[in-house]
Amino acid sequence: MDRYLSIWKRSQFNLLPNPDASRSLTYGENLNHILSKETCKEALNEITRWPEYKISPLVSWPGLARELNLVDISFKDESKRFNLGSFKALGGAYAVYRFLKSTIEQKLAIKIESDDLRNATYRDITTELTVTTATDGNHGRSVAWGAQIFGCKATIYVPASCSVSRITAIEEFGATVIQTSLSYDETVELCAKEAEKQNAQIISDTSWDDYQDIPAQIMQGYSIIAEEALKEYFTRPFRQAIPPSHIFLQAGVGGMAAAMAGYFWAHLGERRPKIIIVEPETAACLYASAAEGTLTKATGDKKTGKVHTLMAGLDCGEASPIAWEILSHGADFFMTIPDTITGPTMKLIASSPFGDPVLEAGESSIAGLAALIMTATHEDTREVLGLSPDSRILLMNSEGIMDQSLYQELVVEDQSK
Ligand SMILES: Cc1ncc(COP(=O)(O)O)c(C=O)c1O
Repeated sequence: MDRYLSIWKRSQFNLLPNPDASRSLTYGENLNHILSKETCKEALNEITRWPEYKISPLVSWPGLARELNLVDISFKDESKRFNLGSFKALGGAYAVYRFLKSTIEQKLAIKIESDDLRNATYRDITTELTVTTATDGNHGRSVAWGAQIFGCKATIYVPASCSVSRITAIEEFGATVIQTSLSYDETVELCAKEAEKQNAQIISDTSWDDYQDIPAQIMQGYSIIAEEALKEYFTRPFRQAIPPSHIFLQAGVGGMAAAMAGYFWAHLGERRPKIIIVEPETAACLYASAAEGTLTKATGDKKTGKVHTLMAGLDCGEASPIAWEILSHGADFFMTIPDTITGPTMKLIASSPFGDPVLEAGESSIAGLAALIMTATHEDTREVLGLSPDSRILLMNSEGIMDQSLYQELVVEDQSK
């Protein structure tokens, strides 16, 4: 092992095998209300018609794979998705479209398509409508973009910790941004209360008891990432039609991870990859839920009890219940990593010491890669996860550089030291 990787080998992490996961378990009909083959197809058919649509690249990293004695490491690079900087572009905007479509169809008793909204045919109705959400940044940007292209108003709530560049990136699409003095989870609650008062439609990427359809649609939008990736595994000759063996997925409320896990589970059954969910140790709501065997809040920082992490998109203390429904049986492992590994892993992606293609990756993007290196550099965890020279790893570069000043601090300035 190269000495360069000793930072990851030395870092502390927690790895929890999921006792409720079993290869032979089939994707249950009880999960179809969240994600089914049909609803994934519906999202795919719609979103691939959008003029902005382009398949995101699947980028191979053979240099690091050699170092870690694995056959392949590939990143699904979401940093350029719709020029919005993250995979979230696929979810929020799709849900905005679905909301506007169903509102008009109900009101006028007709069938419409997304082009009708883009062409402003029903602008007199849509401009009277407001969508709203709470966000750490990327989801809000997707909702704001959806509102702009499909023609309604957007009010986006961000927590106190949200950076100026993330706020500006949302405002760029004409949304009103309200920064609260609260945490992300408190901001979600505030947004839900305000939505009721303002008669705005919440487009949330997290679900709650009586609010599941829209977060499910958002996950259906994300499932395109899995569809595209699988197509490449099955059609590129050098990939030999063998799907990935392991996917390391960073999680905030768990929507993206559950969409990926659910898609592979529903489409590949027992051939599905092993799913490893990765969270920052101070915002590990899915890990806590797996440890308790039921949906549980994150315990936060050991000393302060506060939920907070540098990885802004993963800064969530409460998982989305519908994501947990899938992951409680569909994830094979839950893992936590420390915040201290964020900077070194961002630098690794930016500098590519093993000759691999450089990627633009933000702070929430690196968790899967960090977790892979940490586990692959220890014999015992290699064995537990079944990592071998035949393993084909899929990772998500889930965002580009969305917070310039943090990137400057963690990568650029640090690199010149
Ligand atoms: C870049 C990035 N990666 C991963 C995630 C986690 O997604 P989810 O909250 O659906 O688990 C987020 C969430 O905002 C994100 O912005």
